[in-house]
Amino acid sequence: MKPFIEVRGLEHAYPLEGGEWVPALQGIDLTIEPGEFVALIGSNGSGKSTLARHFNGLLLPTTGEVWVDGLLTSDPRHLWEVRQQVGMVFQNPENQLVASTVEEDVAFGPENLALQPDEIRRRVDEALALVGLQDYSTHPPQMLSGGQKQLVAIAGVLAARPACLVFDEPTSMLDPPSRRRILDTVRRLNAERGITVVLITQSMEEAASANRVLAMHAGRVVLDGPPQEIFEQGERLRALGLGLPPAVEIAHQLREQGLALPPGLLTVDALAGALC
Ligand SMILES: Nc1ncnc2c1ncn2[C@@H]1O[C@H](COP(=O)(O)OP(=O)(O)OP(=O)(O)O)[C@@H](O)[C@H]1O
Ligand SMILES: [Mg+2]
Repeated sequence: MKPFIEVRGLEHAYPLEGGEWVPALQGIDLTIEPGEFVALIGSNGSGKSTLARHFNGLLLPTTGEVWVDGLLTSDPRHLWEVRQQVGMVFQNPENQLVASTVEEDVAFGPENLALQPDEIRRRVDEALALVGLQDYSTHPPQMLSGGQKQLVAIAGVLAARPACLVFDEPTSMLDPPSRRRILDTVRRLNAERGITVVLITQSMEEAASANRVLAMHAGRVVLDGPPQEIFEQGERLRALGLGLPPAVEIAHQLREQGLALPPGLLTVDALAGALC
């Protein structure tokens, strides 16, 4: 299968005033297959957002190459297609909503693709239904809650029908129900539509629901594997400034007290099942 994202020898340095450079990525080689659900974790400043911005050509390599669906991001002829293939959702939905009604906002992406009005209508309705906001289509986005605004931002990205969604800490400002709603939507899009997902998150519980976890440190990918494997390495994660999903932490404590539990319990549901 052709990889969806391929990163070779990627280095990224940000220029500072006075001619100095901040090395943010220091040699990344990475392949993401179509349909994967990848969680990207790492402490503040480890380079997660910088790496993610290379996945849709928002940033271009200082050194090395990034291909998206076989297209080189640094080739200006490919940039439009790359941006269409990979949709980005950022932490703060306020900065992503521009129109006076929810549906106008969601229509923004497909309108940019110069689609027919009835096709735009279809995509907007479908995207709003996917995130459960069909009843809010004529509301002003300013009057929605933070979680609803984030769902509108996600619908806007979905309406352009990208093959891949990159989320940069989409739930960090949200309450637990909104977080769950967004995570469920992301999981569903991945499972039912085969959309490739890259989810940057500070929540180890969220990361545990991915198929693959990448941990970054000082501009490098230092761990890469299925969550079962990554979250077995408690000491290593602690050294990287990261924790464990709550269920893994609790299972660990229970095992220390002599309870025989099977390995690989990543979620509270799985732990509860094993305990029963
Ligand atoms: N616009 C910028 N100009 C200069 N340096 C930057 C810029 N953006 C990021 N950096 C630096 O690049 C490095 C990586 O930053 P990045 O934002 O990619 O990290 P991150 O893992 O997303 O962090 P966080 O968890 O805080 O979001 C950091 O040292 C940061 O200070
Ligand atoms: Mg970041």
